[in-house]
Amino acid sequence: MYIINQHSKKPLHLQLYEALKKDIMKNYAVGEKLPSIRKIASLYNLSKNTVETAYGQLYAEGYIESYPKRGYFVSDIYFDSFQTKQNLKTTPQTKEITYKYDFFPAKLSKDSFPLKTWKRLFTKAIDDTLDFGSYPDGQGELGLREEIAKYLIASRGVVCEASQIIICGGFSDAMGLLAKLVKHKYNHFAIENPGYHIARKIFASYGYHIDKIGINTKGLDIQALQQSKANIVYITPSHQYPTGVTMPISNRVKLLHHINQKDGLIIEDDYDSELAYTNRPIPSLQGLDKYDRVVYLGTFAKSLSPALRIAYMVLPQHLMPLYQESYDAHFPRVSLTTQKTLELFISHGYWDKHVRKIRTLNKKKHDLMRNLLQKKLANTMTILAQGGGLAILIYPTVPFDWEKFKKSAQDAKIKLYFAKERCGGDFEAIRMGFGGFSEQEIHQAIDAFSVVWYGAIVMKS
Ligand SMILES: Cc1ncc(COP(=O)(O)O)c(C=O)c1O
Repeated sequence: MYIINQHSKKPLHLQLYEALKKDIMKNYAVGEKLPSIRKIASLYNLSKNTVETAYGQLYAEGYIESYPKRGYFVSDIYFDSFQTKQNLKTTPQTKEITYKYDFFPAKLSKDSFPLKTWKRLFTKAIDDTLDFGSYPDGQGELGLREEIAKYLIASRGVVCEASQIIICGGFSDAMGLLAKLVKHKYNHFAIENPGYHIARKIFASYGYHIDKIGINTKGLDIQALQQSKANIVYITPSHQYPTGVTMPISNRVKLLHHINQKDGLIIEDDYDSELAYTNRPIPSLQGLDKYDRVVYLGTFAKSLSPALRIAYMVLPQHLMPLYQESYDAHFPRVSLTTQKTLELFISHGYWDKHVRKIRTLNKKKHDLMRNLLQKKLANTMTILAQGGGLAILIYPTVPFDWEKFKKSAQDAKIKLYFAKERCGGDFEAIRMGFGGFSEQEIHQAIDAFSVVWYGAIVMKS
């Protein structure tokens, strides 16, 4: 029974609407029929008009559906969301632990961001180049795409034009767009094992069948790929994630040939090519592609800022008409001010300088961390990956109590990262990120880490 107060200042239809809404949320099941308008009107002594207005409001908000000659029924969409809300247990907020040393493997130190220049160019972009009266380009600003194209041609041997580049809000955004774009053509997605879980998750969420292909000392196992049904393959050929292996040119050519025969597609993720410390990275796989089979992905997260969320994707020419057809009404995936500022940053020569600076800076941190690890942990560990990126991967070579290790690290407020969390497979490694630390902090962090490490070594009795 609803309480409808004929003398209240609140309109009758509003009182009825609120009472019905509450009742639906609490007591009704999806698809259950509501009483007829006539029945409610007579039960509560209301006019038919009043009841119709209340039902009309519930209908407009999507709580109920109306079927001619059958009446009103509780709609499923809204009911689902009520249920979720009602059943939602309010889990007490876990207090965030403040870590003293956080070895996050994809972090840059805050002061390595060129803030002064960025601020100046940001203002310039707003003053001089932004047209607040126009819609922006959904593919990304042409000027920025032209700058990226020039950079990729010169630094990574990518063969492309600005018209093939799509500016995306980070890697996941680019992969989501691609997964949707080519879903009608490909169904078996291959990923390196161990590999970058985020790539797998995105393609799995679009219904692709996932094939995990092992890696060897030359990167992706081409033979295993050939034996699989995969027709779209995601790889990190320049600096395999997470092992750091580089795919040699002979295997790149084999891979291109195989995928061409399969009428397939390769997604080349060149995520941290700017951060190669020992050798110059070998040019992109895309640059070798004679078959128009490679989608090339890059990001500004590793060298400029992971906070800005800017990545880009170079589509093969044959996919451009499909992209243009599918995304003609879509608006930019990265804010216009960020795009314009970045365009100025690159065109004024700051990007090239910044890359050199960031590489030198992180090489120093990399070398320092590697040397300290070798000195302090000596022959109790082996280095599994080094020489690039923002982390060194290590593994103990002595009997090790992992539980104790994790617990003592937690107690010492040291945040650790394990390769398995991000890449699965059987690949076990501790990912020692150095990018977020200053050199001074690296000394302190490795000192603290060594104490925890030695505490976890199981001594022979
Ligand atoms: C393998 C790999 N690809 C791509 C990215 C870049 O991701 P995003 O552009 O979303 O920061 C990362 C970042 O850590 C990565 O590890």
